[in-house]
Amino acid sequence: QGLFELRKGDGMRLVLLGPPGAGKGTQAALMCRRLGLLHISTGDMLRQELQAKTELGLKAHAYIEKGELVPDSIILDMVRAKLEEPECENGYILDGFPRTLVQADALAQFVELDAVIYLEVPFEIIIKRISGRRRCPKCGVIYHTSHYEKSTCSCGGLLYQREDDKLETVKNRLAVYEAETRPLIAYYSQKGLLRTVDGEGTPEEVDARIAALLEP
Ligand code: AP5
Ligand code: MG
Repeated sequence: QGLFELRKGDGMRLVLLGPPGAGKGTQAALMCRRLGLLHISTGDMLRQELQAKTELGLKAHAYIEKGELVPDSIILDMVRAKLEEPECENGYILDGFPRTLVQADALAQFVELDAVIYLEVPFEIIIKRISGRRRCPKCGVIYHTSHYEKSTCSCGGLLYQREDDKLETVKNRLAVYEAETRPLIAYYSQKGLLRTVDGEGTPEEVDARIAALLEP
């Protein structure tokens, strides 16, 4: 029996794990459409807080702009509050969380995960993906300059490049990933939850690989 069958009534609880630029946001959007799950990206939540100039957003900004992780306590309070919302009852995909062993242990205290999908993508591809990334501020859709040359989204929003997508900051984000987040691969593998997916190829090809993992 596949995971989807297992949880149909209840909703799956998945984690998308992978380095910056691996395609977590892109795949989460495709999976949510296919499976009816809620997309929870801690990076997007922090950027929304920053846009609204909340205390949390301004505090987080100092870390984000350097490519450092926002402290665990801040992230955990934010995620706990989110997961208590009724809209999470039908299942969700966590994108960019957990990112440290402390966060993973804390999550295990209040959520039983169904699977952790690890997107494996080589370093050279990551750099190409991040340097061409553009995002719509209105609807959140992610584009890449190699597939989409216009400067406006189909919804009319003016596309922008994330401030932490500058090469120097990306290098630090990758180093932080290696030190803080990569250990989660072994952590979830030991728990029998890890499913590794080849993240190369088109978004649709990667989505098909994920679908095959989650179905009988
Ligand atoms: P966050 O926003 O989570 O950034 P990230 O993990 O660095 O990941 P990205 O969003 O950069 O990449 P992605 O994997 O989503 O790739 P995408 O789909 O966009 O975090 C930002 C910051 O917030 C952190 O540095 C930290 O400071 C803070 N933060 C967030 N969560 C935290 C936490 N839990 N704890 C502490 N701090 C936290 O794709 C990238 C590009 O590639 C796009 O242009 C896309 O179009 C393209 N692309 C995607 N897939 C493909 C494909 N198959 N083929 C070709 N192109 C593709
Ligand atoms: Mg993302």
